Amino acid sequence: MGKYKGQSRLVLKPKSTQEVSQIMKHCWERRIGVVPQGGNTGLVEGGGVPVKDEVVLNLGSMNKVRSFDPVSGALVADAGCVLEVLSQHIAPHGYIMPIDLGAKGSCHIGGNVATNAGGLRLLRYGSLHGTVLGLEVVLPDGTIIDQLSTLRKDNTGYDLKQLFIGAEGTLGIITGVSILTPPMPQSTNNLVLALNSFENVLPIFKKTRARLSEILSAFEYFDRNAYELVVKHKLGKPLAEDEIADAPAFVLVETSGGNKEHDEAKLQEFLEEVMSDESLVKTGVLAQATEQFQQLWALRESIPEAVSKEGKAYKYDISVPVSTFESVVAKTRERLQEKGLYQTPGGVREVVGYGHIGDGNLHLNVVAEKYSDEIEAALEPFVYELVESHRGSISAEHGIGLMKAHALHYSKSKESIALMKKIKNVFDERGIMNPGKVLE
Ligand code: FAD
Ligand code: MLT
Ligand code: ZN
Repeated sequence: MGKYKGQSRLVLKPKSTQEVSQIMKHCWERRIGVVPQGGNTGLVEGGGVPVKDEVVLNLGSMNKVRSFDPVSGALVADAGCVLEVLSQHIAPHGYIMPIDLGAKGSCHIGGNVATNAGGLRLLRYGSLHGTVLGLEVVLPDGTIIDQLSTLRKDNTGYDLKQLFIGAEGTLGIITGVSILTPPMPQSTNNLVLALNSFENVLPIFKKTRARLSEILSAFEYFDRNAYELVVKHKLGKPLAEDEIADAPAFVLVETSGGNKEHDEAKLQEFLEEVMSDESLVKTGVLAQATEQFQQLWALRESIPEAVSKEGKAYKYDISVPVSTFESVVAKTRERLQEKGLYQTPGGVREVVGYGHIGDGNLHLNVVAEKYSDEIEAALEPFVYELVESHRGSISAEHGIGLMKAHALHYSKSKESIALMKKIKNVFDERGIMNPGKVLE
């Protein structure tokens, strides 16, 4: 996000796990801090930035697929493989990656695991805590832990790999990932609904789950302001203006199934049902061809890029009850208005809300002309307290990084934080792994 500047004088690009191990051993003995970097697309603010003079360890040269089993779908790959390249590798075998995100062309599978990224398919395929079968990790002292299992079941004591999923590089370097990939759906389709009111999101979600059941693969939300930013920056094809009129909220529904005719008929029937109730939706657009399928997805997937084009973003990636998504955005806007910072020179341009309804994950983005202490003071701890009042999470899927380490207590008890510190100490008593991130 351009918020933090690094001070590192050295970037190392190891080509093998052995090399990573030698580097870590060297750094451990000399107490040199190390910051792992994957594709550098992470939104854990400051997560991959060497804030002092740490060595950057970039996994980009470890980018080989180690094995793929076309019967089980188990894929074993170096951590530096780009997510989209992995998708392309397994597609001819009839499989897809269980995770998909807007950054797929640059992010690494190791970075995905390190951040426990959620993304657009979580509703269907679950989190990486379920799909990752095994990991190969180099510990801060250089020890290689080989747990690159391809077994579905393995109850031999503590499931150590889980600790590294979402640890943001604070416990060790992930060098290899074994992951279960699902069969490629035979038919994929999507539609966008423009709603009359935000209140309709939940009833429609309930109906969607009931009607589309096993073929539902994504249910995404974006508010009017997010839509307008995408259109303004020409990142998505606008919907017919007269049909969406003043629609305040949109949802994108995706289906993925095994029978084209059956799935299309189900989706068409669903669309007719929701459209027949005028109080629910203003209009609905069902993709008729691959190009339109991508155009509809662009309206949702391009929001982060549109936000970056608009200005400097304060990104809050939170878990709160879905029914509060709109009010959380509205309260944040009101707060900025009260402080005289909303749509004023040098202030905030827009507050937008979008996210993953199926996962209860709202992306609250405050887009400002520039970063300023005044705006930050208006937003924090205000947003964190709002999240805490809903017993939510201050980081649903992006992580904690540097920026949110001080705010961990809004979502974790002091006993939990104390235990996390003990665990960190077991792996890294010298504090060389991604120092200052996640834990203060
Ligand atoms: P980096 O940015 O390089 O690193 C991220 C963190 O992981 C850092 O703390 C780093 O130190 C650590 N790390 C990286 N590699 C390793 C490793 N091998 N071992 C140990 N630690 C490591 N996230 C979501 O959850 N859902 C989304 O829908 C989503 N959409 C996105 C859309 C866009 C356009 C962008 C730019 C980002 C999006 N993200 C999303 C953020 C997401 O977390 C990252 O894109 C991705 O998971 C990070 O992978 P990376 O390889 O770029 O990691
Ligand atoms: C998304 O869902 O688009 C991503 O998490 C990225 C973002 O929040 O900006
Ligand atoms: Zn997201």
